[in-house]
Amino acid sequence: MVSKTSAPSVPFAASKPQSQVLFPYVFSNPLQDGLRLEPTPGPTALVIFGASGDLTRRKLLPALYKLSRGQRLPARFSVIGVSRDPRGDDGFRAEFRESLREFAGVQGEDAVARSLAERMHYLSGDFNDPALFQRVSATLQDINSDGGALFYLAIPPGAYANVIERLGAAGLSKAASTEQWRRVIVEKPFGTDLDTARELNQIVHRHFDEAQVFRIDHYLGKETVQNLLVFRFANGMFEPIWNRRYIDHVQITAGETVGVEQRARYYEGAGALRDMVQNHLMQLLSLVAMEPPIAFTADGVRDRKMDALLSIQPLVDEASRATQVVRAQYAAGWVAGVEVPGYREEPGVSEASTTETFVALRMQLDSWRWAGVPFYLRTGKRLPKRTTEIAIQLRRPPLEIFKRVSPTSVAPNLLIINVQPDEGISVRFEAKLPGTRMQLAPVMMNFRYGTAFGGSVPEAYETLLLDAMLGDPTLFARHDFVEASWALITPVHDAWRKEQAAPIPTYEAGEWAPAEADAMMERDGRRWRTL
Ligand code: BG6
Repeated sequence: MVSKTSAPSVPFAASKPQSQVLFPYVFSNPLQDGLRLEPTPGPTALVIFGASGDLTRRKLLPALYKLSRGQRLPARFSVIGVSRDPRGDDGFRAEFRESLREFAGVQGEDAVARSLAERMHYLSGDFNDPALFQRVSATLQDINSDGGALFYLAIPPGAYANVIERLGAAGLSKAASTEQWRRVIVEKPFGTDLDTARELNQIVHRHFDEAQVFRIDHYLGKETVQNLLVFRFANGMFEPIWNRRYIDHVQITAGETVGVEQRARYYEGAGALRDMVQNHLMQLLSLVAMEPPIAFTADGVRDRKMDALLSIQPLVDEASRATQVVRAQYAAGWVAGVEVPGYREEPGVSEASTTETFVALRMQLDSWRWAGVPFYLRTGKRLPKRTTEIAIQLRRPPLEIFKRVSPTSVAPNLLIINVQPDEGISVRFEAKLPGTRMQLAPVMMNFRYGTAFGGSVPEAYETLLLDAMLGDPTLFARHDFVEASWALITPVHDAWRKEQAAPIPTYEAGEWAPAEADAMMERDGRRWRTL
């Protein structure tokens, strides 16, 4: 296993003007300086099932291009696109160029795109036909007989089990040697509840060992999410206060301005709880809440994340659900100056749909570190702002010694991890307003990726594709994590199913939250952050 710890330490260089950020030390950009020893995978063939789909066009092909441009792909690399749609190698290559134009801003064809296109192959066929898998096997033999193969399931979730079974039956899941490794990337959603996730894990494990399985959660590939580990465990000053003694509560928000878009078929059966909480928000929560791993190894990190998840109090009884879970659906409104329809008016959505497009949860962790510290989660579509952040609110100082002299009350310290779009970390603290009077005001100290390091941050899919080729599962969801997360979410779904006739609260598109979500906070004497 290639550890993500293998990069050498970056030499200190205060190369940027210090005024750009308030943090006093600014490091040079190791990517710009070419100082990082980047591991490169051995010979690899990437086999994409669902090669004509949206994910391939929007994310995978542009990510491959960028990896190639950054010289991160192995010298011997090829792609085999597999899909039902009839088209040949040339058709697939044309689609690759089109996807670069549309989603990577590449005009015309540069040398990188040309060279990559030449290494692209296409097989069309029915996923139910064993002969298709024999053709995959023969093509692998032709183009990469002594290298590794990475099977990417960029297909509808209902087809995962079938493709995995057929890969196994065709002998494609077994490595013939260390170099001829076989791995599979499974997209989300991994199951639709606890039972289906378990069943899928069993099917996967019938053919692949866990070390060969890479369950994607693209949030784990985001630069700021990875930085959470560095922030917590490579700095001495945060860990001592990272507990119930100093932290009052945590708020994790993932807001989107988009609506359901053209995905009603999937979203109607999913809803915000399955679509965002079971995977992305649970990953964020576990990274905030986990204990320090003994070493930065894939299982070291994943074991501690798992502990955090297992410490969450289940929301099984009606009383806890009533006060700790809020769901809602967007009604018509205005987002960024544009009038938008309500969820039930969206194409493909039932007029009587009770699918939630917003969910807020209050989670309590039964652990020594977090007892009594609530974690509030909220996510929704058609909210006023696209933003994902983790806000850690500290307790107020024990004494308000400035109470007499300053008219304003002291705001508690706040640590904000901006996951996107303005990636960075901010700290809010109190300062004295300049002047002859003793007056206090909160100020922000900001670290921003863009200004501190320059350059652009890699897309999550670049990081994750490369890690899977390298065989590093640190940033992928392990089978037990997926199941534990479904175990928390499934009782809520079961209860909602029983209450199907009950009306679902609504919020106006472009508004932050339904009143019920505010009430949940008010009961605790707290408020959602205004973003
Ligand atoms: C996906 C969900 O997993 O994440 C989408 O299916 C959602 O509904 C998306 O829009 C959000 O991802 P990001 O990276 O834009 O925050």
